[in-house]
Amino acid sequence: MKICMVGTGYVGLVSGACFADLGNIVYCVDKDKKKIDKLNSGEIPIYEPGLDEIVKKNYQSNRLKFTQNLSNAVKVSDIIFICVGTPTSKKNKSADLSFVFNVAKEISKNINKFKIIVTKSTVPVTTGDKIEKIISKKRSKKLFEVVSNPEFLREGDAVRDFRFPDRIVVGCNNKKIIKKLEFLYEPLIKKGCIFFSTNRRGAEMIKYASNAFLATKISYINEIANFCEKTKVNIEDVSLGMGLDKRIGGRFLRAGPAYGGSCFPKDTKAITVTADSYKTNLSIIKAVIKSNSNRRMLLIKRIDKILSNKIKNKKITVLGVTFKPNTDDMRESTSLLMLPYLNKKGAKITYYDPSGEKNVFNKLKNVSFSHNIIHACLKADLVIIHTEWDEFKSIDFKKICKNKNLKVYDMRNLYSSDKMKKIGVNYYSIGR
Ligand code: UGA
Repeated sequence: MKICMVGTGYVGLVSGACFADLGNIVYCVDKDKKKIDKLNSGEIPIYEPGLDEIVKKNYQSNRLKFTQNLSNAVKVSDIIFICVGTPTSKKNKSADLSFVFNVAKEISKNINKFKIIVTKSTVPVTTGDKIEKIISKKRSKKLFEVVSNPEFLREGDAVRDFRFPDRIVVGCNNKKIIKKLEFLYEPLIKKGCIFFSTNRRGAEMIKYASNAFLATKISYINEIANFCEKTKVNIEDVSLGMGLDKRIGGRFLRAGPAYGGSCFPKDTKAITVTADSYKTNLSIIKAVIKSNSNRRMLLIKRIDKILSNKIKNKKITVLGVTFKPNTDDMRESTSLLMLPYLNKKGAKITYYDPSGEKNVFNKLKNVSFSHNIIHACLKADLVIIHTEWDEFKSIDFKKICKNKNLKVYDMRNLYSSDKMKKIGVNYYSIGR
């Protein structure tokens, strides 16, 4: 099939490259010239494990193309995926749909034969109806069908999530079109993935309801972790014990810092605002948003206690600043509040992140980036493990840190409290 992906962010680029890898001809379109030039010269603009090889392989075999020319890409394609951003609107915390609607307008000008237009961008329920209305101003409804096919790709695991999804959700009111999408995804369905079809609004709702539910699960376990701390219970055991019940499931029950990233914070806000406009109060999701926002400062303020309120001039090393491992994404990361907080209190901060230095911290005095863990930890009074990159999981603190009174604040529970006690490290973790 010939496919056009509009938007080469992590959803459009990963899905486009993976569709090409399944044997389709894929045109990845972006209006950002720099991005397209980079991609055409073999450079991947985002950090996503495994993506590099797939892009290279399919680009070389001419199945994957990068272009700014939306008009041509739409004309030659059978299926067009809208994969542009839906950031939080500055006005009211709903999803800003201007990029999506602009793309719909552009597509409408270039429809020369029947097209399937699919939204992969996360869009509130009824957006598909609005896209249909925009396009039908220019073209007859016989010439196109608007479908919802939400993505469930995690940053850092996006390639794997595309290739081995739990389910593919397609929302469309036309059965023939659903069959065409099923055909596109056949190689994945053959491997055992479930293809679930519903109407268009249903698919739009499934996406938001899924993200909000996962955010709820995380906030739930984070609050239970707070309770565990007071009662000397180990949250890891609670997560495992709960997760063994198949009705609950063990995934997304890891206690840690507030959830971050480009999706959960944005989508939880957007779904409550949309529901409010339908006079429906999503009180549970609103409580989750509040709980997550409180958590940010709760975990940061613990550092005062760990250092007995003497943060000034302390050497603090932060391991990992992105919102999760295997990504360079800083959006809604707790580190964006934590480093300025410690900086203001006079700490001398060194941070290390496998995805490299972050411009956002450049303007902070007494904050420096280190290129390796050993150098970063050498003179630290306190090491904070903020992100669970694999390379932080087996650090020999006694060997690499010179300070005999070293303290370690492990926000991701990567180490055993007992073992750390045995080797004489003052160890603080979450929910235990
Ligand atoms: C999330 C969803 O997991 C994807 O299914 C969805 O497609 C994507 O949003 C999206 O809407 O585009 P992502 O934000 O990339 O993916 O990353 P997650 O792995 O879900 O992590 C989100 C946050 O939750 C991170 O801050 C992570 O540290 C936190 N988290 C996750 C926990 O604190 N505990 C857990 O057990 C799991």
